[in-house]
Amino acid sequence: MLVVTLYYCGLTTTIYFSYILSVSYNHFGVTIAMAILNVLQFPDPRLRNKAIPVEEIGPDIRQIAENMLETMYAESGIGLAATQVNIRKRIVVIDLSEDKNEPLILINPEITKLEGKEIMREGCLSVPDYYDTVERAENIEFNYKTLDNQLIETSTDGLLAVCVQHEIDHLDGKLFIDYLSPLKRQRLKKKIDKQEKQQLSVS
Ligand code: NI
Repeated sequence: MLVVTLYYCGLTTTIYFSYILSVSYNHFGVTIAMAILNVLQFPDPRLRNKAIPVEEIGPDIRQIAENMLETMYAESGIGLAATQVNIRKRIVVIDLSEDKNEPLILINPEITKLEGKEIMREGCLSVPDYYDTVERAENIEFNYKTLDNQLIETSTDGLLAVCVQHEIDHLDGKLFIDYLSPLKRQRLKKKIDKQEKQQLSVS
C-alpha cells in the first residue's frame, strides 16, 4: 500500500520533471528507486521515433518499466509507451483498474490479429487536454513478454484492446491524432501553436 499512497502524495500532473524519490521499495525481488520521467508532448519530433525490440530482460529493463508505471500513475494515465518518455525500447505499461493496482507490463508487444470495429473517445498524455473519437479494431490477438521473460499469447476486447493498439502505435511513432481528419488536425495544431505563444509571452 505504500506504493499506492506515494502515487497520490502531491505529485501534480502539470509539472514534468525527472525526480528520484527518496524512498525505494521491494518489488520483483529487488530494491528499486522510483523515478518520474518527463513525458514528451506533441509536436515533439521524438514522439515519431520507432522503438527497438528489447533483446534481454534484465535489471535495466525492470527499472525502466517501474519508472514508466510510476510516471503513468503520477500523470493519471491508463497507459504509457516508452517512446513517450524518450526511451527507444518496445515497452508498454497499462493499468485499467480503478485502484491502480493491476499493472500490466508488455515487453515487445505484437498484435497478430485485428477484428471488428470499435469507436472510442481517446486521449493521450502526450497530447494534453485533447480527446477525440478513433476507430480501431474491437478484438485483438496479441503477444508480449513479461518481466520474467515469459511469452504470453492472449486476446482481448473493449478498452484494453483499444489501449494496446494505442500504445503499440506509440512504439511505431504514431499518435491517435494521426487518425483524425485533416481539418480536425489543423484545428488542433492551431490550438497548440496558440498555447505555445501564450506560454512564451508569460515566461
Ligand atoms: Ni498515448
